[in-house]
Amino acid sequence: MVAATKTARDGLVRIGVAIEKRLLARFDAWLATRGGGNRSEALRDLVRDRLIATELDAEADVVASVSIVYDHHQRALNQRLTELQHLAGDRVVSTLHVHLEHDRCLEVIVLRGRAGEVRTLADRLVGEKGVLHGGVFVTRREPWTDDDAPAHAHAPAHAHAPAPAPAPAPRRPGAGKRR
Ligand code: NI
Repeated sequence: MVAATKTARDGLVRIGVAIEKRLLARFDAWLATRGGGNRSEALRDLVRDRLIATELDAEADVVASVSIVYDHHQRALNQRLTELQHLAGDRVVSTLHVHLEHDRCLEVIVLRGRAGEVRTLADRLVGEKGVLHGGVFVTRREPWTDDDAPAHAHAPAHAHAPAPAPAPAPRRPGAGKRR
């Protein structure tokens, strides 16, 4: 349970979070591996990552990367994976194949489309018999900002072409981030 203690002008709310000392040490060690940076930013990233996969509505426009490791000796698996991707048509943007060692391959498949169909396709790829390990990263094609309510119909709040604005708009927190 956390309590909001202060609302800053930039739209950020300060909260106090109780966390085990050792867990925090592990978190800091992980942070250091990504080149340091501040805890708040890293926590916000984790929260977004956790929410984005579950809150996207089925119609949301998304891109996803599906990573799978599989044994290419597994009967007909290569063929099934290729078939699945052909059926998906232009929802498959690109595929990267790496021969890891004698019998194991890594494949990264980039998908684009509606969240619902992309998720179904990703689940089928990861769930194919013979896939040893798999994971999915999904994100919206629209920028994801902290004040978005994912259930909303998303009216773009940004202009892609330079708008004839009389004064520069204040930079929104989270705007211009990599996602
Ligand atoms: Ni291979």
